[in-house]
Order: sequence, then C-alpha cells, then structure tokens
Amino acid sequence: MKKEPLFIAFASQKGGVGKSVFTVLTASILHYRKGYRVGVVDCDAPQHSIYKMRERDIENVQKNDFLKVALYRQHEQIQKLAYPIIRSNPEKAVEDLNNYVQEEKTEFDIVLFDLPGTLRSEGVIYTIASMNHIFVPLKADSIVMQSSLQFAEVIEEELVSRHNCNLNGVHLFWNMIDRRERKETYEIWTQVIREANLRLLDTRIPDSKRYNRELSPTRSDIFRSTLFPPDNREMQNSCIMELLDEICRVTNLESPATL
Ligand SMILES: Nc1ncnc2c1ncn2[C@@H]1O[C@H](COP(=O)(O)OP(=O)(O)OP(=O)(O)O)[C@@H](O)[C@H]1O
Ligand SMILES: [Mg+2]
Repeated sequence: MKKEPLFIAFASQKGGVGKSVFTVLTASILHYRKGYRVGVVDCDAPQHSIYKMRERDIENVQKNDFLKVALYRQHEQIQKLAYPIIRSNPEKAVEDLNNYVQEEKTEFDIVLFDLPGTLRSEGVIYTIASMNHIFVPLKADSIVMQSSLQFAEVIEEELVSRHNCNLNGVHLFWNMIDRRERKETYEIWTQVIREANLRLLDTRIPDSKRYNRELSPTRSDIFRSTLFPPDNREMQNSCIMELLDEICRVTNLESPATL
C-alpha cells in the first residue's frame, strides 16, 4: 500500500525567526544524508526565497570546481537528483504538490512547506491544518515570543486538541541562543511555555554565523545549501543534528541508515 508522505512546516507568525533556514537544512539532511525522498513546497510568494536559493546554489557550483566535483561524487554515491522545490503560495500549496506528484509520477516520504512570515491570508491556516507536524522557531525577544506563543496556543487549541485535521502536534524550539543574554531570560520563557502546556524541544540552536553562510564560488565549506547536506565539520556545535534527531523522534520517522 502506498504510504502517505509526512507533511512538516516550520511556521511562525513572525518573520526572520529561521523558518526558511531550517526548512532547507532539514530537507538537505533528510534527502542527501538520511536517504528519504524529500520535496519542498516554497509557499512564500512572491519572493520564493528557497527557490531563489537553489538558483544561487547552482550558479555557485558552476563557478567552483571543488563544489562541482563534490556534487558529482554525491550523485554517484546516493544515485538520486536534488529534491524539487515547488513554487506555490499558501492557498494552493497542497494542490500544487499533488499536481506535481501526478505530473512527475513521483513519490515523497517527507514534504516540507516553507510558509510566509504572516498569517494574514486564510490560506495559511488551511495549509497549516494540512500538516502533520508544525515546528515553531523561537527567538528570546518579547515581541517575537508573545506572538509565537499566541500562534502556537491557537493552533494547539483549535486544531491539534480537537483532532479535526491531520495535525498531530506543535513543537517549539529555541533558535539564535545568544550567550550574552541573561540565562534567566530563557528560564522565565521556558516556564511560560510549560504553563501554557506547549511542547518545547530540548535542542537549543545557537546564534552562529554559519546559519547565514551559503555556498560561495571561492570557499569549499558547506553548511546551508539546497544541493548538499552540511559538512560534518561545519555541523559541530551548530546543534542541527540534535534538532534533526528530535524532529525524527517526535514525527516517528524511523532513521534509515546514515549514508
Ligand atoms: N541560529 C541562527 N544563527 C544566526 N543566524 C540565523 C540563525 N537562524 C536564522 N538566522 C538568520 O536569520 C535570518 C532569517 O532567517 P530566515 O530567512 O530563515 O527566517 P524566516 O523565518 O524564513 O523569515 P521570513 O518570514 O522573512 O521568511 C537569516 O539571515 C538567517 O540566516
Ligand atoms: Mg522565510
């Protein structure tokens, strides 16, 4: 029997918290390293930032012999193409995915939906209700926190606990942890999250320059890319694998052997 793909979105009512960055990192690790068949639906019209990142990635590989060889070797090893990035919008995300699957006669294990930083259009809630799991990146800033917690509470109360859609859970996680920030700031917010009965992942992603760094024509290190998973060396202290392990655990993704 054909297994339905798992639908995941990093979502928030706030812009600039890391939704697109974690969509790309998660997609690349699951597709190129862990052997899943991944699809990405870029719903953030009109900017389509992940689609544009793929275009930049391709240009940078063409200008960099080291990356060209790395891409060739990766293809020889995993014997599959880059994951598709389907351009869509929040209203038509699932419909566009279904059309793509039919036209290309393809199947996915996991589909990641990159949502815009605003929930103003009704379509966003429709797409959120079609997900199996939502992950909300948090930033220790009062305005971001208030709106993120309100967003998570509404989804939890209206969708998850009523069992009226496919959504199994909303999970929050700390991003951009700043070592200069007072420790109590995180403890107080963590307490607020617990009291609201919201679920918080253990992983805390540090504020680190590599989350900003893309492929370059002149460098050989790889972290954020739509064509490669991050290098082992670059992953150290980024906590990205810890986050991926937790995501696999809460979504019940059994871990296929790491390639
Ligand atoms: N842990 C981190 N450390 C440092 N920079 C980070 C981290 N996470 C995200 N960023 C940076 O924050 C910026 C915003 O990230 P991103 O574009 O993923 O946010 P977004 O939630 O998708 O925003 P939008 O709502 O505008 O689409 C990017 O420049 C990204 O590189
Ligand atoms: Mg984005």
